[in-house]
Amino acid sequence: MKLVGLVGWRGMVGSVLMQRMQEEGDFDHIEPVFFTTSNPGGAAPAMAKNETTLKSASDIAELSKCEIIISCQGGDYTSEVFPQLRAAGWNGYWIDAASTLRMNDDAVIVLDPVNRAVIDAALSRGVKNYIGGNCTVSCMLIGLGGLFEAGLVEWMTSMTYQAASGGGAQHMRELLTQFGTINSAIKPLLDNPASAILEIDRTVLATQHGLSADETKQFGVPLAGNLIPWIDKDLGNGQSKEEWKAGAETNKILGRGAGFDAKPIPVDGLCVRIGAMRCHSQALTIKLTKDVPLDEISDIIASHNAWTKVVPNNREASMRDLSPAAVTGGLTIPVGRLRKMSMGDDYLSAFTVGDQLLWGAAEPLRRMLRIVLE
Ligand code: HSE
Repeated sequence: MKLVGLVGWRGMVGSVLMQRMQEEGDFDHIEPVFFTTSNPGGAAPAMAKNETTLKSASDIAELSKCEIIISCQGGDYTSEVFPQLRAAGWNGYWIDAASTLRMNDDAVIVLDPVNRAVIDAALSRGVKNYIGGNCTVSCMLIGLGGLFEAGLVEWMTSMTYQAASGGGAQHMRELLTQFGTINSAIKPLLDNPASAILEIDRTVLATQHGLSADETKQFGVPLAGNLIPWIDKDLGNGQSKEEWKAGAETNKILGRGAGFDAKPIPVDGLCVRIGAMRCHSQALTIKLTKDVPLDEISDIIASHNAWTKVVPNNREASMRDLSPAAVTGGLTIPVGRLRKMSMGDDYLSAFTVGDQLLWGAAEPLRRMLRIVLE
């Protein structure tokens, strides 16, 4: 069995990955080696077989023994350790959740239900770096991959509603702390049915403005009862890095980016952080390459892969099935609000929701492991 090094398995994405690998029996096919940045020599988790102690995640010699390394340790770790490993002559498969290497020419962004052909071509060329995509992009492509595959997307805008988890575990905690502080401030007023709603509203606003530096350390501003229309770095051209990723990564995943023959499809929009926990939602406007009837569009979307599901475009189904609370914890990516827009029959609206820790992070990595093991 191949030695597979696991780094960052205790963090949020890593924990979801471990859970999914156990559910899918992945550990039956590998000899895992657990690495740590904080506790070398400690006991490895129950999934360990022969290597029952934790190895240091900065020990290049130990890492080099692995034929495959999966890292959920984050971008700083990748930037520091990956070049050292390759410089030391390590030629194994590097499977990574971090964005550091994603756009490199010698790396493929993995999302096999959408780009298995791109992955297979890379494997046969000897490419060794396989990187998970941006969560929003991966969730969108699992949902709408069928339209891209059918050549129906001329361009697309994506207006996102991204959950706190995209920032990390501390961001989720901060959101909940903020909700708690606000609730405590208005609890007496809420409990009194005779209190004035405008007083409640004033108190909420004053509490949001009065949140301590500690309570806004991660997001910088209140997120509870609020939104933040900027995610990731400012590229200085009016676009956030998260918005840039939508176009750059979608096209790279589809094999339409730089170095490929096919022309990139314009994908652009606005990325917004909202107070959801771990599901990213997106409102999409799609300019179709031709007018296709809605029932055919639904079939094309639904039949593309086993995880996308079309939600009928009515009030009841949309409220029930098309929300973060409905989708969290599952691999299904519902696509709904499908309708032709008033701009013309070749303009399609859609709304999709995905668990950003599953298809958005852990799932493509464990599936890539299985592909390497095939
Ligand atoms: N950049 C994403 C976000 C998460 O902040 O929501 C990871 O892809």
